Amino acid sequence: MNPIDRALEVLRNGGLVAIPTETVYGLAADASNARAVARIFEAKGRPVDHPLIVHIAAAEQLPQWAREIPPSAARLAATCWPGPLTLLLPKAEHVLAAVTGGRDTVGVRVPAHQMTTELLTRFAGGLAAPSANRFGRVSPTTAEHVRADLGDLVDFVLDGGPCPVGVESTIVDCTVEPPQILRPGGISPDEIRELLGADLATTDGPSRAPGMLAAHYAPKARVLLAESRAIADTIATDVPGSWILDHSDLATYARSLYADLRAADERGIAVVVAVLPAAAGLGYAIRDRLTKAAHS
Ligand code: TXA
Ligand code: MG
Repeated sequence: MNPIDRALEVLRNGGLVAIPTETVYGLAADASNARAVARIFEAKGRPVDHPLIVHIAAAEQLPQWAREIPPSAARLAATCWPGPLTLLLPKAEHVLAAVTGGRDTVGVRVPAHQMTTELLTRFAGGLAAPSANRFGRVSPTTAEHVRADLGDLVDFVLDGGPCPVGVESTIVDCTVEPPQILRPGGISPDEIRELLGADLATTDGPSRAPGMLAAHYAPKARVLLAESRAIADTIATDVPGSWILDHSDLATYARSLYADLRAADERGIAVVVAVLPAAAGLGYAIRDRLTKAAHS
């Protein structure tokens, strides 16, 4: 059976399918099936008040999920979708409380991955999907990562190869004016600011997006942060058997970040010394994930 046909069948029967996206693999269920959505939380071991992103095939479907689309959201959707951007909007009435964590807002995105676009187009509805890892662990960027984390807890893995971006979507809250960036991700905060022509606030503190805990994205290895390669080299000399994590190219750094952290665990590395890239472009998201990985 063609893998997309199989994925559709599983989703229509209320099952869980791991879907490839440009950012990371998602653990998807029919967003309008409460029983199927509940299975996502069971499989991940995720607290039930952490809302899920609804994935749709195209921006034209947005009015089915959001009761209001402010001009800022329309503009971001038109420019960045399909792509690594999630918009928080006032939810449409039918959206399940299990998806929104009981909030009045819903997170929506149009992922850019050919197999998932085909799946979503044929499915016609929305797919609720968090990253396909166990709660608190490193996100999966290959089908093998998903299988290693979730095993039989996922009914089918749609293998679309390694994720080209490698860090999760940027989350922009468009229910406030000016909009707020809640999570830096695959689209740089600078680009969002430029598109909106506004001086956007970024939150870090007690975030309005539950699930953005200080400790997250955690490998088993201890992660130490270094502001430069020279500092990392010095630390590594003092810590025998440590591993330096560093890529001069930001896109490469993002793409391989989670696979590198998983590889360190597989090799039994106790300490990873991560070089923080400059805060620009994808550097914001990489710094955010490394800082959280270092917190555990
Ligand atoms: O790139 C991505 O965004 C990936 C792929 C699979 O699409 N998904 C992802 O989902 O990273 P997840 O669940 O691991 O992270 C989504 C974050 C969570 O911190 C959640 O709390 C927040 O988005 N979120 C989702 N809906 C929300 C809402 N209505 N209000 C506040 N935060 C929300
Ligand atoms: Mg996640």
